[in-house]
Amino acid sequence: MKRIVIFASGSGSNAENIITYFRERDSVEVIAVLTNKKSALVLERCDRLGIPAFYFNKSAFSSTDSVIQMLKGLNPDLIVLAGFLWKIPPNLIASFPKKIINIHPALLPKYGGKGMYGERVHQAVKDNSETETGITIHYVNENYDEGGIIFQANTALSSSDTAETIAQKVHKLEYEHFPKVIEKLLS
Ligand code: GRF
Repeated sequence: MKRIVIFASGSGSNAENIITYFRERDSVEVIAVLTNKKSALVLERCDRLGIPAFYFNKSAFSSTDSVIQMLKGLNPDLIVLAGFLWKIPPNLIASFPKKIINIHPALLPKYGGKGMYGERVHQAVKDNSETETGITIHYVNENYDEGGIIFQANTALSSSDTAETIAQKVHKLEYEHFPKVIEKLLS
């Protein structure tokens, strides 16, 4: 059984989707969710789903190795960022080479980088009258949204789409593909 740890800062709908996907299979298990936000909805989801969840603050994350030590104790085969908003420190990346992946709600290299998250991404796609958008699953390196691309999927847009409907289309792609890409990476 392969082990994954999920990092999430917000709603956690992807985290829940990944947890429920692997509950029905015996190849992979979500062993814990880590968050940097005490009020994140993902914590309620973990409670309901019976998944251990842990909170850490900025100084623990950036100035100590306590998160690395915790992760080493959890011994994950893969660390999955699903809506996690802080940059991953270099020592954490170095401790888990090629074992940290992220999902970005656009077709990188477009609409990535610092400050490009959530609604802002979809609004920028709309403002530029893009005819398509999508998702990018990629390895994590020291720069936001710049690690090697593992998988992309796209969806067509029309001029009547709003940032909200674009977000819905992107979420649909995320729910469909993210667990399968994780499964394939771990097989
Ligand atoms: C997703 O759109 C993901 O691509 C991005 O953050 C969002 C998280 O949504 N990195 P949720 O918290 O999983 O609902």
